[in-house]
Amino acid sequence: MSHPQPMPEMVAETTDEASDYFGSDATGPYDSALREGVRQIFLYDLASGELVDVIPVWRFSSRADRHERALLERGTGPLLDLGCGPARMVQACMSAGRPALGVDLSPAACELAVAQGIPVLRRSLFDALPGEGRWGTVLLIDGNIGIGGDPQRLLRRVFALLTPGGTVIVESHADATVDASFTAMLSDARGRSSATFRWASVGAYALRHHARRAGLRLTREWTAGGRTFCEYARPTT
Ligand SMILES: C[S@@+](CC[C@H](N)C(=O)[O-])C[C@H]1O[C@@H](n2cnc3c(N)ncnc32)[C@H](O)[C@@H]1O
Repeated sequence: MSHPQPMPEMVAETTDEASDYFGSDATGPYDSALREGVRQIFLYDLASGELVDVIPVWRFSSRADRHERALLERGTGPLLDLGCGPARMVQACMSAGRPALGVDLSPAACELAVAQGIPVLRRSLFDALPGEGRWGTVLLIDGNIGIGGDPQRLLRRVFALLTPGGTVIVESHADATVDASFTAMLSDARGRSSATFRWASVGAYALRHHARRAGLRLTREWTAGGRTFCEYARPTT
């Protein structure tokens, strides 16, 4: 792993007023990394200045691996990948003969997906989406349970997108006890930094609580390839 840059001081002074989302910044480190083939960028907690996560952009730009393809064997009906990036999961799902759509805010991610003929919508997942209440499976992987920094709000949105009986697969934090919501920023090894945005890190235990509050029912928790996944269903009644 290349050495992360210290968080720029100017941004560290920013208060908790973030309104942007991860990836909404067309000239920020994430879009630049996708366009330039940079392998990883760094996610910081603005208040503490601590490095929270190394974002594996290389994985987003690769094909789905066997553990990820196995996720697609679960659930039925059309699949919606929220925060799909360049949409490797949508591509894998469609290759398996199942209809799928990706949603992402990032201009670079959407352009890369579209260039490969993968169907994506460039839109916030909190905006109106096609097929609300009819999706068989929703994906929130690669840390995307962090989007918006309010896991309950996000899971309530997922509930509304799913058909009754439909399922969401969430990748949770490796540490099951983690439950943190914070203002974050991204930076890269060249010292470029993003606008600030709200983000969350959620382990499997906290996810149970957030999901229950959102009306979702736990159906399975498992690990694969060193990653932790949790599946929740929208009850049929
Ligand atoms: C940690 S990355 C995960 C990327 C990814 N799952 C992939 O396969 O490439 C988070 C992704 O969520 C997207 N995102 C963040 N906030 C979003 C929002 N409100 N609506 C849609 N996408 C969002 C970002 O642009 C970014 O691509």
